[in-house]
Amino acid sequence: MNASLPPAAAGPARSDLDEEAVRRLVHLFYDRVHKDAVLGPIFSGRIAADAWPVHLAKMCDFWSSVLLKSGRYDGRPLPPHLALGSDAGEAQFARWLALFRPTALEVLPPDAAQAAIAHAERMAHSFRLAIGFHTGEDITRMPPVR
Ligand code: HEM
Repeated sequence: MNASLPPAAAGPARSDLDEEAVRRLVHLFYDRVHKDAVLGPIFSGRIAADAWPVHLAKMCDFWSSVLLKSGRYDGRPLPPHLALGSDAGEAQFARWLALFRPTALEVLPPDAAQAAIAHAERMAHSFRLAIGFHTGEDITRMPPVR
């Protein structure tokens, strides 16, 4: 390897944490979700093809608010997940996180990736608790999604 090359040229480009990095995270992640055998049909059953740009823009606002404190997202994340009912159980949340973790590590600087993953894991657990509560599961011993 040429020692004079800057590190970024040696590996995959990893940008600073900025709006462009957030955009790349969201677009790459939902591209993978779309192609995924477990999650793809769940999302495409609820988001029409022509509504994807709106969903992606909303998710950019969400992650921009989480990671950059931009305050762009002021929605309510729980209702659409409660509506998923048994389509969003432990297996589906585990799959979501299994796609999200490597995507965050690929696209974001390491500290930001860890923060994004920790935030997603907390939200996945709180969605699971809320869905379980509404469907009558015993949530008192429900472990965090792995
Ligand atoms: C089984 C896993 C999941 C499934 C199947 C799922 C599915 C969905 C669906 C169908 C929507 C509604 C899209 C629309 O109608 O516009 C949505 C919205 C959203 N999801 Fe998820 N999701 C999952 C996990 C997560 C996790 C772990 C997070 C946390 C990072 C998350 C954050 C959001 C947010 C912020 C919205 C936008 C809510 C709004 O303001 O309308 N989702 N999700």
